[in-house]
Amino acid sequence: MALFKKKQAEIDPERLPKHIGVIMDGNGRWAKKRGLPRSAGHSAGADALKKIVTEANNLGVKYITVYAFSTENWKRPEAEVNYLMSLLLDYLKNAEKTLSGENVVIRCIGSRKELSDEIQEQIKKTEKFTSKNDGIVMNIALNYGGREEITNAVKVLAGKVKDGEISAGEITEADIENNLYTSSQPDVDLLIRTSGEQRLSNFMLWQVSYAEMWFTDKLWPDFKPADLRQAIIDFQSRGRRFGGV
Ligand code: FPP
Repeated sequence: MALFKKKQAEIDPERLPKHIGVIMDGNGRWAKKRGLPRSAGHSAGADALKKIVTEANNLGVKYITVYAFSTENWKRPEAEVNYLMSLLLDYLKNAEKTLSGENVVIRCIGSRKELSDEIQEQIKKTEKFTSKNDGIVMNIALNYGGREEITNAVKVLAGKVKDGEISAGEITEADIENNLYTSSQPDVDLLIRTSGEQRLSNFMLWQVSYAEMWFTDKLWPDFKPADLRQAIIDFQSRGRRFGGV
């Protein structure tokens, strides 16, 4: 018998990732394994998400961005798109009560004009209602695409060049950053993707430049607060050099 029990690694609260990005993948496979419709996987995924945001907030993480619906997800069958949209609407409505009670600030990032009027209205309401909070900021990436986000920033800057407000040669990285959906937020330090896939899928292409990537085979509905803690412990064990030595 071992004389000493191996000490469990603990999270160092001084070195938390400031911003965590999450690609919540595997809802469909989770449902299939159980002989359930894909919608059941998305519903279980929404439940898992609530617990993860609560945990991240309790740990003291300042920002979390979750990929809820990409600009490419419209290609899914209409019934699945409709289900995801209704789930998002419910989530935003409930978040006013539940997550706001936990002091979460909710923001939606992505292009809104393609969303239904009802969802656009609810986003405004939820963002306003939770803006008084000062806990974790949760960005819900909804009809979001990283390339579209950067393209928009370029369009704004091109307009300024055309109007003579700035010269093209003066454009800085900060100018691009200031025109992203996440302007004023720190870069993503830790990117988590579930379900064994190891791709970015057009998620936060600018903001993940120096992110540590953490992958797990677990399907998103099975991802638990303990998995989040493990991802943070692993993040803290890595040496980040940002291009230096
Ligand atoms: C990817 O799994 C997941 C999505 C496209 C949707 C993510 C949505 C949720 C977790 C729930 C709703 C979110 C909110 C904010 C309420 P997949 O369907 O591609 O899974 P698969 O690869 O196994 O088919």
